[in-house]
Amino acid sequence: MPQSHHPAKPQHMRPPQQSAAESGIHVAIIMDGNGRWATSRGRPRTAGHIAGARVVKKIVEAAPDFGIGMLTLYAFSADNWARPSREVALLMKLFRRYLVSEVERCVTNDVRMRIIGRRDRIPAELLRAIVSAEEATRHGRKLDLRIAVDYSARDSMVRAAESLRDKESITREELAGAMGRVNHWYGEARDVDLLIRTGGEQRLSDFLLWECAYAELYFTERRWPEFTAADLQQAASEFHSRERRYGTVPAAAAG
Ligand code: IPE
Ligand code: IPE
Ligand code: MG
Repeated sequence: MPQSHHPAKPQHMRPPQQSAAESGIHVAIIMDGNGRWATSRGRPRTAGHIAGARVVKKIVEAAPDFGIGMLTLYAFSADNWARPSREVALLMKLFRRYLVSEVERCVTNDVRMRIIGRRDRIPAELLRAIVSAEEATRHGRKLDLRIAVDYSARDSMVRAAESLRDKESITREELAGAMGRVNHWYGEARDVDLLIRTGGEQRLSDFLLWECAYAELYFTERRWPEFTAADLQQAASEFHSRERRYGTVPAAAAG
């Protein structure tokens, strides 16, 4: 690994006990295909979202077993506001229901839950649920669960750049930090190790463009409501079989 991207901290500088969340890989998932899953069964798209929410619970529970320390789930993009208002309203209701019903399980399972994205367009009731879920789970150290709602990577970059406009020069770290802040994320935004997209499309749809600079990409035809813990395990094991080179050559070929 090149020093410039991922400098390894000398042993004596590492925190004495890294949490499972800190030491595990960062997996990001574009949970796509709910609508098609439902319509192919003659059901309304909203049935796909309801089924999809059940899958989120299973995947969150399984993630730590596969060495995942951070899990970022794309739940609602800034462009998804353009969907029919009934669908948007149901999604907002489902997010709220998810937060309220999962808080206790997250606390028990040592999961820290945070929502990334804009907050100024989120319905007030959902916003209250977000704040209390984040507060209640703040000590979780096994998994950092991040759910992206009203999220746009491009918009984050623009707003971050605006927030730094008075500075004469900015570093990568400052821009990355500012991007975290505009998304209500106050930690260091970690690079994505593995990006999974379900539902058969092979695109990023404005998700984590900065953090995915060296992400391994994994696309599956499986639609989100039918994605299982075994599928996550398969993606994780494929990730471990890949060689990440960060622009350099494999050690054996370096001569
Ligand atoms: C993903 O599934 C969920 C959200 C974007 C909220 P879709 O609703 O995009 O499902 P498809 O892609 O139309 O099948
Ligand atoms: C991306 O899916 C957003 C989420 C999964 C939340 P979309 O279904 O909105 O993406 P496009 O429209 O196919 O690019
Ligand atoms: Mg879609």
